[in-house]
Amino acid sequence: MNPVILFRKDYTTEEEFEIAKKYFDVVEFRSDVPADSLVIGRYSTLPYYKELDHDLKINGSKLINSIDQYNWVANFDWYDAVKDYTFETWFRAQDLPDDGTKFVVKGRTNSRKHEWDRLMFADSKKKAIEIMLVLNEDSLIAPQGVVFRRYEPLVTYEIGLNGLPFTNEWRFFFYKETILTYGYYWTMAKDVDHQITKEALKFVKDIAKIVKDYSNFFVLDIGEKISGGWVLIEINDAQMGGLSENSPDTLYSNLKNGIAFDDKLVHVELYGEDFYHKVYDILEQLGGATGDGYRESFIYNFTQDKYKSDEWRFQGKLGFGGKYRGERNVVDCYPEDETPARLKLIKKMNVALKELLSK
Ligand SMILES: Nc1ncnc2c1ncn2[C@@H]1O[C@H](COP(=O)(O)OP(=O)(O)O)[C@@H](O)[C@H]1O
Ligand SMILES: [Mg+2]
Repeated sequence: MNPVILFRKDYTTEEEFEIAKKYFDVVEFRSDVPADSLVIGRYSTLPYYKELDHDLKINGSKLINSIDQYNWVANFDWYDAVKDYTFETWFRAQDLPDDGTKFVVKGRTNSRKHEWDRLMFADSKKKAIEIMLVLNEDSLIAPQGVVFRRYEPLVTYEIGLNGLPFTNEWRFFFYKETILTYGYYWTMAKDVDHQITKEALKFVKDIAKIVKDYSNFFVLDIGEKISGGWVLIEINDAQMGGLSENSPDTLYSNLKNGIAFDDKLVHVELYGEDFYHKVYDILEQLGGATGDGYRESFIYNFTQDKYKSDEWRFQGKLGFGGKYRGERNVVDCYPEDETPARLKLIKKMNVALKELLSK
């Protein structure tokens, strides 16, 4: 199935639209989707997911997330599967504790977060119920059903309009278990030096190991708790998830590879200097990479360089085109340089490289 993006653009997503076209066939109308396509919706799947799914099936195409997968996210069914990672949640007002617990009140998918003080944050059960009554009259929120979540103070950099906290929160795009890209969540916050930790990356990967059984293409938002550690804020269908500070180039190029290699993609930013030292050990010891100072440039390229290259030409025993490829964590050489001995060596090096990932 050929992947196609069905993009509903507006003036805020014009640039993303142009970038998507660098990597995928992109159409704007469902009637233009070629037969037998794997359709990745971008801002185009709602409000009628089921109708879209139905229309696409007529010419043998299907959406990247099935209706069940879509519903699992939209209906908040995900809560049970990842309870241990996210805020405690109540589904009925009468079950709320009345002991000073603070809440966040919202719909199963959307919220009125831009009215944080008035329509989201509740410092008591009484206030939570008042907000629920208003949200039950809200044409976007009411049909989703209102949920109550335990308020957890998050590391906060500034307070926006109506009391909305701009916190240390990060948005991750996943294709199955693979991180496609991640970025700071609040695009409208001031430019401060937001930090994400190794612990956060492990946290989010553990969640994805569960979620990948329920969704193919999803977004995880995580935030840093004041009390320490990270918490899952919510799961969204990645077809509707906004970019936040994620680079569309990274998103679409990795998604393309992710689909093509179906999950064998490695996201290099997950690994730090130690990892690349071990990679270089393999390039040197097995691959015969030589040269003073190359190790340092190699590590700088993959861990720090803004303009990092995905390919590292180390040559050595693999000849002129002997390269390490960061995204897939593999080596190869020019086809014209292939010999039985070289192919054997490539295989051996790739096994060793793969082993590094499981450590
Ligand atoms: N339980 C909570 N405790 C503290 N902050 C929360 C909680 N739930 C949500 N938030 C904050 O509110 C923001 C919006 O909540 P979210 O559930 O993501 O709604 P939406 O679907 O509208 O984005 C989050 O990005 C986070 O900063
Ligand atoms: Mg959100």
